[in-house]
Amino acid sequence: MDTYLETERLALRRFTADDADLLIELDSDPAVMRYLTGGRPTAPELVRERHLPNILAGYEKWGGDLGLFAAHEKDGGAFIGWFILRPESNGPLDEVELGYRLRQAAWGRGYATEGSRALLGKAFTELGVRMVWAETMTVNHGSRNIMEKLDMTLANAIPIPSDMEMIEGAEHGGVRYEITREQWEQQ
Ligand SMILES: CC(C)(COP(=O)(O)OP(=O)(O)OC[C@H]1O[C@@H](n2cnc3c(N)ncnc32)[C@H](O)[C@@H]1OP(=O)(O)O)[C@@H](O)C(=O)NCCC(=O)NCCS
Repeated sequence: MDTYLETERLALRRFTADDADLLIELDSDPAVMRYLTGGRPTAPELVRERHLPNILAGYEKWGGDLGLFAAHEKDGGAFIGWFILRPESNGPLDEVELGYRLRQAAWGRGYATEGSRALLGKAFTELGVRMVWAETMTVNHGSRNIMEKLDMTLANAIPIPSDMEMIEGAEHGGVRYEITREQWEQQ
């Protein structure tokens, strides 16, 4: 496996062109997609023709250091979902977004926190990142809890994109959390 990062229980790797089925299956669970699309699965052809090619193009663009990474349990190798550590497409390389999408079977075991914590460490110590940010719906308590466990700071409220306005809780808007290298070093 082309390992990008290891934690105590997880191994993160770059996706390959053969991974469409993993992404399709992950996005087919309405519970996973609840605060992303209102539960609607991602169309398989969209994953094959747009999402996966974009993920692979990102590795080219950022030298394999930034992008979307598949996460597996080290014990047994099961795919548990993905993490993102990625700048905006035309944004500065030292400001990156943190994100996560895990299979329901993997929830509630601290995996999202464990993977994110390791990604913050890598970003700030190896990748020259100055600031990491994360955004989620105000009502996505699972996602916000991770940001808070990582000692990220609630920066501001954000509007919900128009294509997410029909999602349950959208009326409460979204939230953005941030952490700078200085804040991380002081932890
Ligand atoms: C959000 C998500 C990544 C959480 O993953 P996870 O591995 O279960 O998270 P962790 O186990 O690291 O939990 C972190 C903390 O949040 C809490 N938590 C997790 N899910 C929660 C929920 N639905 N509601 C309230 N708290 C929750 C945990 O109890 C834990 O706190 P604790 O250690 O004090 O008990 C996972 O549920 C998921 O992938 N959801 C679907 C995709 C998604 O919404 N991604 C975020 C989009 S911005």
